[in-house]
Amino acid sequence: MPAISFAPASRTWLLRTPGSAYALRVDGDDVPRHLHWGEPLTLDQADSLPLPADLSGFNGFEGHTPVGEELPVDGGSRFGAPSLQLRFADGVRALEPVADGHSLTEQPTGATLLLHFRDRHYPLRITLGYQVHDDSDVIERWTELTHTGTDSEAGDGTEQGPITVLRADSAAWSLPPRDDYRLSHTTGAWAAETQLRRSQLSYGETVLTSRRGVTGHHAQPWAMVDAGDADEQHGQVWSTALAWSGSWRITLQRTADNALGLSAGAGHEGLTVRLAPGATHSTPRLAGLYSGGGFGGTSRSWHAHIRAHLLPHPDETRPVLYNSWEATAFAVTLEGQQQLAAHAAALGVELFVMDDGWFGARRNDRAGLGDWTPYAGAFPDGLQPLVDSVHGLGMRFGLWVEPEMVNPDSDLYRAHPDWVLHQPNRRRTELRHQLVLNLARPEVAEWMYDWLTRLVGDHGIDYLKWDMNRPFTEAGGSADPDDPDLLWTDYVRHYYQVVDRLRADHPALRIEACSSGGGRVDLGVLARHDQVWTSDNTDASDRLVIQDGYAQVYPVRTMAAWVTDVPNQQTGRSIPLRFRFHSAMSGVLGLGGELDRWTGAELKEAAELIAEYRTIRHLVQHGALYRLRPPRSQNELTAVQYTAADAAEAVVFGWLEQRRFGRPQPPLRLAGLDRDARYRDRRSGAVHHGAVLLEHGLDLELPPGDWASAVVHLVRV
Ligand code: GLA
Repeated sequence: MPAISFAPASRTWLLRTPGSAYALRVDGDDVPRHLHWGEPLTLDQADSLPLPADLSGFNGFEGHTPVGEELPVDGGSRFGAPSLQLRFADGVRALEPVADGHSLTEQPTGATLLLHFRDRHYPLRITLGYQVHDDSDVIERWTELTHTGTDSEAGDGTEQGPITVLRADSAAWSLPPRDDYRLSHTTGAWAAETQLRRSQLSYGETVLTSRRGVTGHHAQPWAMVDAGDADEQHGQVWSTALAWSGSWRITLQRTADNALGLSAGAGHEGLTVRLAPGATHSTPRLAGLYSGGGFGGTSRSWHAHIRAHLLPHPDETRPVLYNSWEATAFAVTLEGQQQLAAHAAALGVELFVMDDGWFGARRNDRAGLGDWTPYAGAFPDGLQPLVDSVHGLGMRFGLWVEPEMVNPDSDLYRAHPDWVLHQPNRRRTELRHQLVLNLARPEVAEWMYDWLTRLVGDHGIDYLKWDMNRPFTEAGGSADPDDPDLLWTDYVRHYYQVVDRLRADHPALRIEACSSGGGRVDLGVLARHDQVWTSDNTDASDRLVIQDGYAQVYPVRTMAAWVTDVPNQQTGRSIPLRFRFHSAMSGVLGLGGELDRWTGAELKEAAELIAEYRTIRHLVQHGALYRLRPPRSQNELTAVQYTAADAAEAVVFGWLEQRRFGRPQPPLRLAGLDRDARYRDRRSGAVHHGAVLLEHGLDLELPPGDWASAVVHLVRV
């Protein structure tokens, strides 16, 4: 059966993925209505589904049921949260869409459906896009709006004039009726990103959003909903994630009659888009996923989808990295970096990254941002001597940049004070003593691309850590004065374009995404970055929580984690080296400490653990994640497992922060293994039956005392 099929008599569409089905019907009033999202159905079965009852017949106050439409527009008797809200040039706001054909394209690995509508009266075309892939249960959706008027001179006040788009979400999802609903999402802050929250969804509207111009630390642009009955292994979970790296909004609506709908897209409330005659506005893609495999199955499906369809180099192994930030902060010198590089290379590090402080007058965070020439006091002969010595040590060379920012105390700002986001009659709010460059302006984007491509090309730079350390304020300076909010969209599009052009120019270049830690991570970032700096908080205990939240949707092979010095710079906590390593080894391992102050014993242990990581990282970075014991309770074991696709190998991590009451740890039940096989523990040589590991568990043989941790690598015999 094709991935997308159609029953013309009832105008029913069925979208099929390997593990799910999605059905919709264009009803007699030309409204695209939702029918099904869940377990697989045939077209016959979908065709037989009745449309949900519309309450408007019973009582004048009910209006249209606010949940259950594929794109609930503002118009008619709809009183729910609209996904599409416009104002035509003559002031009319209500939309009246009329079905206007469709197009279905079969690709070798999936299919795309476009459903076209036009407004009954005004010059507007609306297209709802759906894409499915034959190797993923994710359905991608988007919306396109075209002003079909031809009179480019038409001004405001005429029916043909520009349309103001007040809200254009990418898509709306409807869930099947359940007795209860529970929302899983993350909240966070700087140094405390991606903290998983799971709670009953209130009646009314729940909004998750960023108004910062970037994705933000405070919420992630994804949501999962279940009926309150799913767990890691079992149960139905519906989830959605947005591919956009600017402001965004997800609105969940639980109605008084207990229906649940969800609408999501770019931009926060109040931002508008101006659609001139002939112009098209396309929303970013919103991905949706149904899984019958609980939260664990949901995460694994997202990881597989992101690997197969977004990541630029999904099959590559991420190298072990060293980053100088926690060791030196701004006190960067050639000799100091060379010394750190020599230590790092001796430990087995493969990529050396020099962080902030190497350029312009950047001796602290008050000056120099924007002046991207090496600081002559530290690098009298430029960067090349350092690049060469790092390459000479057999490592790749990486460099920190923050291209979107400027310190007012910089040559760039003195030359171009108008290049920053600003508004007339308003002060320019500084955060971390810096202002945001107006990347929405083409000349700023061109300048940025130009110095970056030269920097990378001239020095043979292998890796950039692309940072972005503050949100928008006074966000004025749109390229089109008639469309002031265009800036919020153009900024993100130009950021994507600069990164994409750099990648195209330098195919070997790899780019990390950072925004004061994990302030900009989303499906748009993961389509063009190789890894993400998860958090400035490198405390190994806090990290278990942050990493658990990160990996709910985003693959572990993008989740950078460093081992740093103790006491930890963020928390003041001192955790033994081995535990710190084990925490970081469950992601993309890096190091970030003052290696020149590590003792001989510490350096020896670090080298051994890095060597061990190299023997298991194919599982961490490419395997399937099973959360065996999530890090919710301080006193109990946290454990994760990564398993090869064919279940021939697995690696298990266990962390026990505190031991209470001298209780022995019960064996840890594993997951995702071959029941009938036997597995050898590579360290101890012990052989275990798969069925026993699954049903009775594995003794991790944790060392005594607090901060006990273990890594067990199992290989099928
Ligand atoms: C941000 C990053 C850090 C570091 C500093 C440098 O905070 O998240 O890793 O690069 O900037 O100023």
